[in-house]
Amino acid sequence: MPQLGATAVIAGFVLVSAVLIKRAMASETCTSPDSRVSLGDGNSIPAVGFGMYYTPPGAVAYDIVKEAIKIGYRHIDTAGFYENEADVGRAVKDSGVPRDQIHITSKVWPEAEGRWQTDAYNMVLEHVKASVEKLGTHADLYLIHWPVNPEQRVDYWLALEEAQKQGLVKSIGVSNFGVAHMQKLIDDPRTTVVPAANEVELHPFLRQDEIEAFCKPRGIRLIAYSPLSRAKRLDNPVIQEVAKAHGATPAQIHVRWSVQHGYVPLPKSVRTERVAENIDVFKFEITPAEMEKLDALDERLFTEWEEWGNLDPTKMD
Ligand SMILES: NC(=O)c1ccc[n+]([C@@H]2O[C@H](COP(=O)([O-])OP(=O)(O)OC[C@H]3O[C@@H](n4cnc5c(N)ncnc54)[C@H](OP(=O)(O)O)[C@@H]3O)[C@@H](O)[C@H]2O)c1
Repeated sequence: MPQLGATAVIAGFVLVSAVLIKRAMASETCTSPDSRVSLGDGNSIPAVGFGMYYTPPGAVAYDIVKEAIKIGYRHIDTAGFYENEADVGRAVKDSGVPRDQIHITSKVWPEAEGRWQTDAYNMVLEHVKASVEKLGTHADLYLIHWPVNPEQRVDYWLALEEAQKQGLVKSIGVSNFGVAHMQKLIDDPRTTVVPAANEVELHPFLRQDEIEAFCKPRGIRLIAYSPLSRAKRLDNPVIQEVAKAHGATPAQIHVRWSVQHGYVPLPKSVRTERVAENIDVFKFEITPAEMEKLDALDERLFTEWEEWGNLDPTKMD
């Protein structure tokens, strides 16, 4: 009986904590580009980030990051895969904004072959160290880029836990992970840290309700990539109608929809005027009725993975 009582108390505590985290995450209001929202591990992250995928390394990447910081972005999303970590690091350093006011996310891209199959733990640690060297500073958030190699995934994660202990990265998380992937990581007796965030493709034309239902009560922040649906639906009549009602642009409606849901969108552009447009989303609020209309636009539009045959990485083995 006493054992049952203790179990009930622990279960009650877990339930109350989950409800409190969920409420706290839902009620955070963002009023400016540097507004922050919580991550599951107690750290925080600026509510809108600047995407760096397909931004050519070198002068283009360096200049646009400096420009984005000047405009007001305080969060840059890069990755080893994007080959522009060094430019991001230099631009952040030269921006004149104190390092602790800027959040940098980077990621490791495991391959499906070679040492990734046999020595995953060391491979991830080596990649984290290479990222930190290129950035010239720690990463505020470091992610496993995609859930390839089911047998190695826990080793990836243990390496990130070690990188966090060594102070190379502040928070650790995952990207393109589905519910089953996250559940397996959390349930494995060797892991001790719950992912602080999961970065997935997420926009009005591709909602992630199942993943959100799993993440929210556990404090795992959803970071929305391709938040502009890669500009493929800017002419959608509902998007246009809501934009018109607020004197906003279709891209701004995409970003604002994410922010109001508590997701962290990462709009990308290499054009200064669009970089400014995409973060200018704190002067208006989409009404609940409009949010409902936008929520109904989901058509499972995978913009990132269409060239891979519309593979849904969150459903991989
Ligand atoms: N974790 C992952 O696996 C993953 C995968 C994909 C993306 N991401 C992250 O998420 C970021 C954003 O995603 P994304 O780059 O795929 O797509 P996105 O931000 O949804 O869309 C970018 C596209 O929209 C255009 N665009 C930007 N602002 C616009 C505006 N105001 N009006 C019209 N067109 C506009 C851009 O062109 P211009 O540049 O010419 O303006 C570019 O072609 C990435 O850069 C990356 O950091 C992560």
